[in-house]
Amino acid sequence: MPGFELFSDLERNEVNDVLDNGVLMRYGFDGMRKGHWKAKELESELGKTFQSNHVQLVSSGTAAVSVALASAGVGAGDEVIMPTFTFVASFEAIMMLGAIPILVDIDDTLTLDPKAVEAAITPKTKAVMIVQMCGSMGNMDALQDICNTHNLLFVEDACQAIGGTYKGKPLGSIADLGCFSFDFVKTITCGEGGAVVTNNKDYYINADHYSDHGHDHVGNDRGAETHPFLGYNFRISELHAAVGLAQVRRLPEFIAIQKRNYTILRNALSRVPGVTFRTVPKGGEESYAFLNFFLPDAESSQKVIEAFKTGGVDACWNYYHNNWHYIKEWNHLKDLKSLFPISTEVKKGLEYLQTKTFEQSDSYIARNISCLIKLSWTEDEVKDRAEKMAKIIKAHI
Ligand SMILES: Cc1ncc(COP(=O)(O)O)c(C=O)c1O
Repeated sequence: MPGFELFSDLERNEVNDVLDNGVLMRYGFDGMRKGHWKAKELESELGKTFQSNHVQLVSSGTAAVSVALASAGVGAGDEVIMPTFTFVASFEAIMMLGAIPILVDIDDTLTLDPKAVEAAITPKTKAVMIVQMCGSMGNMDALQDICNTHNLLFVEDACQAIGGTYKGKPLGSIADLGCFSFDFVKTITCGEGGAVVTNNKDYYINADHYSDHGHDHVGNDRGAETHPFLGYNFRISELHAAVGLAQVRRLPEFIAIQKRNYTILRNALSRVPGVTFRTVPKGGEESYAFLNFFLPDAESSQKVIEAFKTGGVDACWNYYHNNWHYIKEWNHLKDLKSLFPISTEVKKGLEYLQTKTFEQSDSYIARNISCLIKLSWTEDEVKDRAEKMAKIIKAHI
């Protein structure tokens, strides 16, 4: 991560194709396009990458989560179980549908603890959404079993995990629906963009229509298309899709670089007493977009993070007090600061956040350090960085 580090003529040529024919919209204008359908081509490439029957591109990863849930019928008053460690998009996308995010503890995989999920199920629970944070995954089999037993929809937010696999299957293609982000900082970027991935044809058709004002996409006269149901505009543009098309073809190259850089860092840190790594479930392979490790306690991780900053080691974070990624600082959610009135059902459904504590999540996140793996580093730069990081950690724990 991120794919923008290696922009090349491949991306430029795809964008120029779009500018040359002038059609920036993904639907219609058949006569003008000179055969260029970048969004359609990207959907087809992603279908191969994710070994999935259906892919619907949308305008962002946040939109992908809303569209995925809506496509499976999740809406007002439904509860969606999600982890405490994620990105704010998770609860935003759920609440946009009038549904209620139910936050539960993570375990040492850094995402949903199956025991916490099971304990949070109520008659209102409609879906479980795992967030495959920082390029790795949770215990997919246990979570799938829970969903099967309780007849719940299983959704994967794989926005940070493109290229990772579990038992040979791409992350994001395992649950009923998978969601991806191609925003500016992701391994594959469109600038802004996202995708919903599924093998369920009905969900796919719903996603296709819902993300384009409910259009049925029958025929080639947009004005004459019918609207089987209400929708919104979550379309991606041809310009964004063009960038993504060039990038997705380079995914194997990007993952190989991430793996090389990750492995150098991990090998160096493995030799430092007191450093342990997040658990990757058996059969899983990370995307190598981040290296996540734990230090023995919260104090040492704070000291190390500060020393990384002053010592010139960038792109490493402790998320305990991070405004984007962890429940601790999400006061706008806890206090329900909304520009518009929120339904009584959602208000009531979120009252638990006033009192609920997440000690188990705290214990993992406070001790965790998460390091972004860049694509632009040379092998020598990574070796240098690895040495520096090991030295700093040894000096501070
Ligand atoms: C785990 C996760 N989910 C969803 C999103 C939202 O993606 P986007 O920025 O494309 O809306 C992000 C973005 O960082 C993310 O990290």
